Amino acid sequence: MIPTIEWKNGRVFMIDQRKLPFDEVYIEHSGYKDVADSIKKMVIRGAPAIGVAAAMGVALGISRMEDDEKKPGTIFNEIVRVLGETRPTAVNLFWALEEMKKVFNIFQKDIRILKQKILEKALEIKNNDEKTNRDIGRVGEVVLNNGDTILTHCNAGSLATAGYGTALGVIRSAKSSGKNISVVAGETRPFLQGARLTVWEMQKENIPVTLITDNMAGYLMSKGSVDLVLVGADRIALNGDAANKIGTYSIAVLSKFHNIPFYVAAPLSTIDIGSASGNDIPIEERDGNEVRNFHGAQITPSNTKVYNPTFDTTPFELITGIITEKGIIRTDPEKKIKNMLKKNILTNFRNKKNSIDEIIK
Ligand code: MRU
Repeated sequence: MIPTIEWKNGRVFMIDQRKLPFDEVYIEHSGYKDVADSIKKMVIRGAPAIGVAAAMGVALGISRMEDDEKKPGTIFNEIVRVLGETRPTAVNLFWALEEMKKVFNIFQKDIRILKQKILEKALEIKNNDEKTNRDIGRVGEVVLNNGDTILTHCNAGSLATAGYGTALGVIRSAKSSGKNISVVAGETRPFLQGARLTVWEMQKENIPVTLITDNMAGYLMSKGSVDLVLVGADRIALNGDAANKIGTYSIAVLSKFHNIPFYVAAPLSTIDIGSASGNDIPIEERDGNEVRNFHGAQITPSNTKVYNPTFDTTPFELITGIITEKGIIRTDPEKKIKNMLKKNILTNFRNKKNSIDEIIK
């Protein structure tokens, strides 16, 4: 797998996801403002990857601080403010900034130690993300059967995380258990994460993938061509409502009508207990030119009025299960989320299809 983001010699390198699948180029970042800019402009995207980028942005900012700085708190708050204003929906961004704040509060008295500890934390967040995704894969693959065709939306793969992916991680895990899985990728207008990124990731691993435009999902379902839907999430509310890429809600409604299981795969860091329901989740709106253009070519008059919400929210009642690193939440989301956040109950879920709910009491 090609690395999404890396720390090398005091700099942060990110593969430029706007250029994929045609060019595999890395952008070098030497300051936190460059990192913030890259998050805003979608050089890096996907909730967990944005969280890792924010943590590394903080580490970059702190690494440039004078060792005798008298007001480290002022600088730290500014770094957090700039990074925190990049994208509003993916809660992993704010989760990562909170994690960095805890380290800052403990070590701020000695800047040299602070630099080291902050960097260690950023790297830990990155490394744990990939490990967590492998756990999500192990937990989730029990819902996939040999021969299944899985519809996914946007890109919840290696590129959207520090590695392996959430929804695509579940597919990777099923494949490595010997199951034959085919993927249908929705193209995901307007940014085309499905067409450009998911297809690219699946092809690199020889997982059969078919691209459709977003408006074809219902037809495929009506023909019995989709066995299960698997998507990621940018923020999950305490009641289990899940915000994900715009279009996810429509697919969930279609899945309900056609009786097709609809799963969300996400790490616990995507759960926001501060959002009681999906109504509390802020939905990012992006520039109208993303809709007026299709991969660089204008497709409508320049003055066309555009509405460009980047995410939508799927109510828990449409979700068959939320696959996390600690188990699958099928019922009672609030109670289970609270319990999961309290204790680590990950055991070996392999081939224990119906036992997961019993373990999460
Ligand atoms: O706008 P993006 O590309 O950042 O949106 C990404 C998604 O909606 C993903 O599905 C989500 O972040 C889950 S990624 C593991």
